[in-house]
Amino acid sequence: MPKPLVAGNWKMNGTKSSVAEFKAIELGVEPSLLEKVDIMICPPATLLSNMNEHAEYIQLGAQDCHHNESGAHTGDLSAAMLVDGGAGAIIVGHSERRADHNENNDLIMAKADASHNVGAIAIICVGETRNERDSGKAIDIVLSQVKNSTPDNANGKNTILAYEPVWAIGTGLVPTIEDVQAMHFAIRKYLVNRFGDEGINIRILYGGSVKPSNAKELMAIENVNGALVGGASLKADDFLAIAKTYI
Ligand code: PGA
Repeated sequence: MPKPLVAGNWKMNGTKSSVAEFKAIELGVEPSLLEKVDIMICPPATLLSNMNEHAEYIQLGAQDCHHNESGAHTGDLSAAMLVDGGAGAIIVGHSERRADHNENNDLIMAKADASHNVGAIAIICVGETRNERDSGKAIDIVLSQVKNSTPDNANGKNTILAYEPVWAIGTGLVPTIEDVQAMHFAIRKYLVNRFGDEGINIRILYGGSVKPSNAKELMAIENVNGALVGGASLKADDFLAIAKTYI
């Protein structure tokens, strides 16, 4: 069983004053908690190096990168720049990127490769829309996203998958326990088929409206190796309460 990870995705939220919230999370993380669970915050890139100065227990991640190493890409950030700022992981393929920026699986795989090339963990997000869930095709669609956005060199050290049903993100809605279990089981089975024993080591996070009140139940599901938390990661108390479900 891989060590669980609770990662906070701050999305496009936070300015310098928000570093106080990050420090509050740091203060609340005791070494005994870290024996049970890894804890990560993925702030906007502008805050990475500032937070890196205060990050003792918390790992830092970034949100998205360009797939090229460098060059004429105004407004984009390379994986190397994010690592330089303190990120040890990069979220790629988030549904907000897939939807808002028309990102497809090929591009997401290239971004995962770019992350690996600079030694960063790729956190690859997958998930179905409400219509896809209602049509009964959720598992097929998610497995095809996993297949086509996960590089061949993926292993437990360089890759994390995050199953985030699009309709559960920021809505307060969550799938049933049975549906989460079935999806994570299907992803695990696919990973083991493709990567052999290494497929067991790749963490599969659940994301989508995780909050203190539902975290314990969700994190207890087989093959759920932690959470990717959006809204509730912006408040130190809520985020810590989610992480502490592992105590
Ligand atoms: P949410 O977002 O927790 O606000 O639903 C999760 C995510 O998009 O990573």
